[in-house]
Amino acid sequence: MNKKSFYITTPIYYPSSNLHIGHTYTTVAADAMARFKRATGHDVMFLTGTDEHGQKLQTVATEKGMKPKEYIDTIVSGIKDLWSTMEISYDHFIRTTDEDHKRRVQAIFKKLYDKGDIYKGEYEGLYCTPCESFWTETQVEDGKCPDCGRPVEKTKEEAYFFKLSKYQDRLLQLLEENPEFLEPASRKNEMINNFIKPGLEDLCISRTSFDWGIKVPIDEKHVIYVWLDALSNYITALGYPETTEGKFEKYWPADVQLVGKEIVRFHTIIWPAMLMALDLPLPKKVFGHGWILLDGGKMSKSKGNVVDPAVLVEKYGVDALKYFLLREYSFGQDGVFTNEVLLNRINSDLANDLGNLVSRTVAMVEKYNDGIMPAPKEEGEFDENLKLVAVTAAKLVEDKMNKLDFSNALEEIWKVVRRTNKYIDETTPWILAKNEADKERLDTVLYNLAETIRIISVLILPFMHTTSKKIWTQLGMNEGQGTDWEDTLQFGNLQIGTKVEKGAALFPRIDIKKELEELEKETKKEEPKKEEKKEKKKVEQKPEITIDDFDKVDLKVGQIMACEKHPKADKLLVSQVKIGDEVRPIVSGIAKHFKPEELVGRKVIVVTNLKPIKLRGVESRGMILAAADGEELTLATADIGDGAQVS
Ligand code: MSP
Repeated sequence: MNKKSFYITTPIYYPSSNLHIGHTYTTVAADAMARFKRATGHDVMFLTGTDEHGQKLQTVATEKGMKPKEYIDTIVSGIKDLWSTMEISYDHFIRTTDEDHKRRVQAIFKKLYDKGDIYKGEYEGLYCTPCESFWTETQVEDGKCPDCGRPVEKTKEEAYFFKLSKYQDRLLQLLEENPEFLEPASRKNEMINNFIKPGLEDLCISRTSFDWGIKVPIDEKHVIYVWLDALSNYITALGYPETTEGKFEKYWPADVQLVGKEIVRFHTIIWPAMLMALDLPLPKKVFGHGWILLDGGKMSKSKGNVVDPAVLVEKYGVDALKYFLLREYSFGQDGVFTNEVLLNRINSDLANDLGNLVSRTVAMVEKYNDGIMPAPKEEGEFDENLKLVAVTAAKLVEDKMNKLDFSNALEEIWKVVRRTNKYIDETTPWILAKNEADKERLDTVLYNLAETIRIISVLILPFMHTTSKKIWTQLGMNEGQGTDWEDTLQFGNLQIGTKVEKGAALFPRIDIKKELEELEKETKKEEPKKEEKKEKKKVEQKPEITIDDFDKVDLKVGQIMACEKHPKADKLLVSQVKIGDEVRPIVSGIAKHFKPEELVGRKVIVVTNLKPIKLRGVESRGMILAAADGEELTLATADIGDGAQVS
């Protein structure tokens, strides 16, 4: 019988030597889903990879005296190592520098150009004539070229554009009429109201100011600029538009494309428009998951708050980390990472609930039946309920997984774990063991415990397959004997007469207080040292005011719902800030310090009664407060509901 295909993708990662636990989130989730689909009989294609072009990488490589590819190769190999540490079961790793990808992107460009959906226009930037370089406003200081220090001038660069605006109506219809396409549903309104309805502009898709990219096939002085190159990976990896091995026909359209919330916009506006232009079917679902935050902010290397997944894996094991990420956080929403929540979760769910269940059961089989798996003999109270909970769990897990609700899928499995622990308390095997007359009942209890653990071990396979295998060894089972997903639907698959094997604790209990102190010490060691001998600063003081003066300023907490670069000024960001029932645009000069996507979700303090003004054509209704210390800038934040009055 032909297996049903299932195609799942993660975004392709920017090459970075510091992928943090937030980055691994998308991939860990995709991995669990891929393993789940394989376990439930699908022919899975799981794609991940790296997004390797663009001026930034070229500049970094040049600074290091390396060729871009040479430099990126070392980083990509580090990323592959991380995925291997995290036991990520991808089927294909695409690099946008792969020759196949480059050739196919050029063919896609040509198709769109021939169709009239790509045209030549002009892109505005700051140009340094002696260096023949284009710069953005943020790169230029005091109107001078960052390379040679000579003045730059506003110039237009010829560029190719994709006719995104042409697809505006179809995109609106897609999002409004197809609730499956973008999940969670909460992200839909943001796309419609903030991006589509205000009007889509055509997208600049080529540059001539740098050359680290795929050459435009019809005009070799241009390179294709980021999104057309990057988004195409999802289909070039399958061979499109060349015909290869029927992979494209088999797997496209993708079943699920997982992306972090800050890139939902590219995946639900630019990407479907590109596919529409190519007359291709659209992905069945784009899921925009939340961020893992640290202390209320997104992790980033520059903020020094990165949590290294490799360190956590080394300390607590890959299964514990994967379990934690998928169980602790609700997939569509943001969550805050702290060492404490991680350690508590490991101790309560893994060491106590699952680990203890397995070790107690194996220990009892050793003690009361010489380590031989007994046959069930005498049925008793509680058995029916235990069996029912065990054999019905798979369907509940499937239901949650098909909704990408990883946390509740695991919760369904843990209901079985907790039920089984309760069964030990109910049946009290240690009392049964005291009386020879209860031996048959004791055998049944031990068998039922081990058999339920077998079912649990199969259900956790998509999330923590190494633990599943450790359990099989302890129960004296072999892979293939009751270890398929459908074997969780019947009770009684576990072989009798086999020898159990007590092993090391699956998840050793952690002394949380001690461990937290150690983690703290390590983080401190790694923290970039602030220049201690900074000259004493003279703090300027403004003239005194009265409380009535201060009272005139209306300060409120606002949440940044969306943020993007100002269309005409590189130093400015335009945020949509929610303050109670109202969402208002606020323009701030903070683009040098934050990427727009880093701000989405942040709760900030806003001056709400400033007279509205237009900044370079965009209306601003308020001011976001920030504190600056020389070059360093941090937002004034408040961890409380938006709309709250600050006084
Ligand atoms: N290269 C683009 C994607 C192009 S796809 C055609 C990119 N790369 S990235 O390396 O910056 O991000 C990769 C993934 O990691 C994204 O899904 C992003 O949302 C995710 N995460 C990065 N930091 C994160 C958290 N702190 N929390 C959760 N996921 C976050 O974007």
